[in-house]
Amino acid sequence: MAHMNTKNVQVSRAVGGSVAPIGVAAGRVNPRVYASPVLYQGPAPMCRPTQEPTPRSQRVIVQASTLERPPAFSSPVLAPKNDKPTVCITGASSGLGLNAAKSLASSGNWHVVMACRDFAKAEREARKIGIPKGSYTVMHLDLAALDSVRIFADMYKASGQRLDCLVCNAAVYLPTAKEPVYTADGFELSMGTNHLGHFLLVNLLLDKLKEAPNKDPRCIIVGSITGNTNTLAGNVPPKANLGDLSGLENMQPMADGGEFDGPKAYKDAKVCNMLTMCQLHKRLHESTGITFASLYPGCIASSGLFRNHVPLFRYLFPRFQKNITKGYVSEEEAGRRLMQVVASPDLKKSGVYWSFSNTSGSFENQLSEEASDDAKGSRLWDVSMKLVGLA
Ligand SMILES: NC(=O)c1ccc[n+]([C@@H]2O[C@H](COP(=O)([O-])OP(=O)(O)OC[C@H]3O[C@@H](n4cnc5c(N)ncnc54)[C@H](OP(=O)(O)O)[C@@H]3O)[C@@H](O)[C@H]2O)c1
Repeated sequence: MAHMNTKNVQVSRAVGGSVAPIGVAAGRVNPRVYASPVLYQGPAPMCRPTQEPTPRSQRVIVQASTLERPPAFSSPVLAPKNDKPTVCITGASSGLGLNAAKSLASSGNWHVVMACRDFAKAEREARKIGIPKGSYTVMHLDLAALDSVRIFADMYKASGQRLDCLVCNAAVYLPTAKEPVYTADGFELSMGTNHLGHFLLVNLLLDKLKEAPNKDPRCIIVGSITGNTNTLAGNVPPKANLGDLSGLENMQPMADGGEFDGPKAYKDAKVCNMLTMCQLHKRLHESTGITFASLYPGCIASSGLFRNHVPLFRYLFPRFQKNITKGYVSEEEAGRRLMQVVASPDLKKSGVYWSFSNTSGSFENQLSEEASDDAKGSRLWDVSMKLVGLA
């Protein structure tokens, strides 16, 4: 209730004892309205493909201000019983997340919770790529709405589902945006989704993670070479630079308070991801036993991350990476790399930013000066705690 605004929200009627998605129109969630997470496996009556909107007769329009957060323990959409180590991957409906989900689930050793903003798409993609039935659960999570993150965390805990590893993978990249777009809470979309949504999620699930039944809890935050200015790729303008973080603190479009710049906003958010991993390691690794790590999965030049780029770029970039830089990594290979950071006993070390060589495999990489700046990380922690309502 405290997080409601007074916009109209569309709610589907409960059917057959199942709870309908709230704030969802035809499987897609409007990030600007309150949305409830839904857990389901296999075909669900409430998840319709985008072409088939909910029939008017089954729609109810309510004032969001009258909605209560659903009582977590009364939801009938609880996860099926599952005894395997469980990894929750955000943004598992595409690219790296989807392929890591497939590798982990197909190994037979892991159950995967696919935490996705478009759960109908997640289900479709899981089937298309061949993730074995019964080895995954789709849950709704929209990182661009902090209420959705809060409810996701509540529902996850209430579901009785175990949590052995949390992977903060989802991201948006707006390379051609001329104007900022904002999350439901008024943050610039890249920073709000890629950093703040994940920052809140990790903090809300820490207690659950501490209790990981496999006694090897891990929290992985996906980083990027583009945020690291100690690399060639990180020096392609515009370069990441969080400045004094006053822009973020004051909810301006850019963390450093400068003019909006789409690619820089993404890179800045990636620096925040890596700084957050370092802070989590410093603050919590020893007391919780959780392994905190980040990684650069390689240049997955054909992934959906570039969907907002101009067509010519999308055509040339994979070819350039394959033939000139040789830095190209397929989505499948990137998924296997992420799987190693989740599951390999060799990659259990906390506080590490993993990278991969095509010839010799994983290695501990160096973060840039900014991405490993402890004072900046500490300030980012304090600012982020305030912005997500935890301080
Ligand atoms: N591609 C690369 O070369 C590369 C390089 C370095 C690091 N990375 C990192 O790898 C990670 C995955 O990127 P990718 O290449 O796999 O991109 P991708 O294919 O575009 O996948 C991004 C995922 O994030 C999800 N997402 C976006 N906004 C969301 C929101 N508000 N709430 C929940 N989920 C949301 C997307 O959902 P939908 O399916 O609904 O769109 C999608 O599942 C990112 O952290 C990225 O920074 C990528």
